[in-house]
Amino acid sequence: MTTFSFRTDPPTHVRVDVLVLPMFEGPEAGPGVKDVKGADLTRLYGEAGLKGKRGEMLTVPNVGIEGLAAGSVLLLGLGKKEKVNTNTLRRAIGRAAPSLAKRKSVATTLPQAVVRSAEDAVQATVEGIVLGSYRFDSYKSGKTAEGAPERPALESVEVLGPSRWNARAVRQAIARAEIVSDAACFARDLVNTPAKDCTPVYLAEQARKMAKEVGLQVKVWTEGELERGGFGGILGVGQGSANPPRLIELKYEGAAASQAPIALSGKGVSFDSGGLSLKDSTNMEWMKDDMGGAASVLGTMKAIARLRPRVNVIAAIPAAENMPGGHAIHPGDVLRHRGGKTSEVLNTDAEGRLILADALAYLAERKPRAIIDTATLTGACIVALGDDIIGAFGNDRGLMRDIVAAGEAAGEPVWELPLWEDYKSLIESAVADIRNIGKRSGGAITAALFLAEFVGDTPWVHLDIAGPAFTEEGGDFTPKGGTGVPVRTLVRYVLDQAGRPVRPARART
Ligand code: BES
Ligand code: ZN
Ligand code: MN
Repeated sequence: MTTFSFRTDPPTHVRVDVLVLPMFEGPEAGPGVKDVKGADLTRLYGEAGLKGKRGEMLTVPNVGIEGLAAGSVLLLGLGKKEKVNTNTLRRAIGRAAPSLAKRKSVATTLPQAVVRSAEDAVQATVEGIVLGSYRFDSYKSGKTAEGAPERPALESVEVLGPSRWNARAVRQAIARAEIVSDAACFARDLVNTPAKDCTPVYLAEQARKMAKEVGLQVKVWTEGELERGGFGGILGVGQGSANPPRLIELKYEGAAASQAPIALSGKGVSFDSGGLSLKDSTNMEWMKDDMGGAASVLGTMKAIARLRPRVNVIAAIPAAENMPGGHAIHPGDVLRHRGGKTSEVLNTDAEGRLILADALAYLAERKPRAIIDTATLTGACIVALGDDIIGAFGNDRGLMRDIVAAGEAAGEPVWELPLWEDYKSLIESAVADIRNIGKRSGGAITAALFLAEFVGDTPWVHLDIAGPAFTEEGGDFTPKGGTGVPVRTLVRYVLDQAGRPVRPARART
C-alpha cells in the first residue's frame, strides 16, 4: 500500500528515492527544477536529446549533487507550457508510474505545473500514479523462468506544494484520487478476469462483497425472481448459457429519502459469443470485456459509498452470458421486457440492449432524477469514434452537458452522437413492439434508440464504451486490458450533482 501525503517542504530537502520534476517543451525548467543549484538539470535534459515533449523522461542519479537530498531526479516532460492541464499530468506521470512503483519513496512538484485548480492537479497526479502502476497478475503462477511478478514497492508519495495552497482541500483531493483510482482498478480487475471465472453469479458475489465492505444496500435477483418480475430480456439472453443470469441492485443513501436518486446501469454480458448469431472467432476473446459497463457501475458505486456525497444513487446491473446452447433464444423470438414492451430478436448478437431494456424500465419506475447507462454496446460506435472516445446519446440537454463536462474533467473524452428520431423506423417490427437491430449503418444510433424506448420521459444519457472499455495496446496510465472507463466520469458527475440544488421534475403530460 502506498501512502500519499501533502508537504510544503522545498523539493531539494525531501529525502526520497525519486524526486519527480516537470519539464516543459523547449526544454524549459518546470516548478522545482531551478531549486536544484548543484546541477544544471535543464541542460542535462537537453543534452540527452530531450525536448520536453509529454512523457519524455530522464533519470539523473544524485551522484553528489550539492544541496539535493533525493537519491535521484526524474525529469518528466509535459509538452508545451501553455497547453499543460490536469489531463497532461495524469498521462505524463502515468507513463512513469510502472518504474516509480519499483521504488520505495517518491516526491513530486508536478501539480504545480498547472496554474488553475491545485486540487484538480493534485487529484490528476495521484490518479496517474495509482492507475499507471496497476497490474493484473492474479493468473500468473510465478512458475516460469522469470519467476513471480515483482511486488510493487512504493510506500510513500509526497505531493509538494506551496504553503499558500489550502492544505485541507489538497488532502481531500488526494483522498478522492485514491478512492476513485481504486474503484477504477476494481472495475479493471473484473474486466480482466476471464469469462470462465467472471460469470453473472461471480459478478453478483463481487458486488455483494464490495457492498458489505463499503456499506451499500444490495439485492441480487435470481432467475425465479426475474421471472416473477417480468425481466424477459435478461432471462432470454441468459437462457443459452449454463451460467444463470442475475440482476444486481445497489443503493446508496446520502440524502433525504424524499430526494429522487441518480440511477445507474451497466451492461453485464459476462461473455458475448453472439449466441446463435455466433460471432466470428477472430478477436472473440475480447468479448470477456462485455461486462465493462457493469464493472464500471460497480466501481462507481464503490467510490460513491466511500466518498459519501449528499445525494441518493441507485444502480441496476443486468448480468447474463450470451451463449449458443440448446436452450438459447432463436433469431425470430420475441421477448417480453420489464413493464410489458416486447422486442423481436432478429440477431442474438444484439443482446446488450435486450438486457439493458429490462434494467432501464425498472430504474424508470423508481422515478429517478436521471438515468445514466454505460455499455460495450456496438462495434459501430468504435467505427464512428475510434478506440478511445465514449459515444453519448441522450434525451436531455442539461444532463448531456453535465456528463460531457464530467468526462472532460476526468480525462475520459465523451462525444455526443445524435439520438436521431427519424431512424426509429429502422427498428419497427412486424410482430413485436420493436426489433433489436436496424441496418448496418448508424448501428450505434439505432441501438441507443432501442434503449430510449425503455426510459420513458426520464432524463437519460447512454454511454457506448465499446471502444474505450478495453485497450489492446495499453495507454498512458493503462496497461493492456480493462481500462475502468467510465468510472472517473460517473463519480465526477455524481459529486458535481451533490453540490447542486435538485432540478424540478419535468412536467408530465
Ligand atoms: N458486445 C458487442 C459490441 C462490441 C463489439 C463491443 C466490439 C466491443 C467490441 C455487442 O453485443 C454486439 O455484438 N453488437 C453488434 C450489434 C449488431 C449485431 C447489430 C455489433 O456491434 O456488431
Ligand atoms: Zn455484447
Ligand atoms: Mn453481441
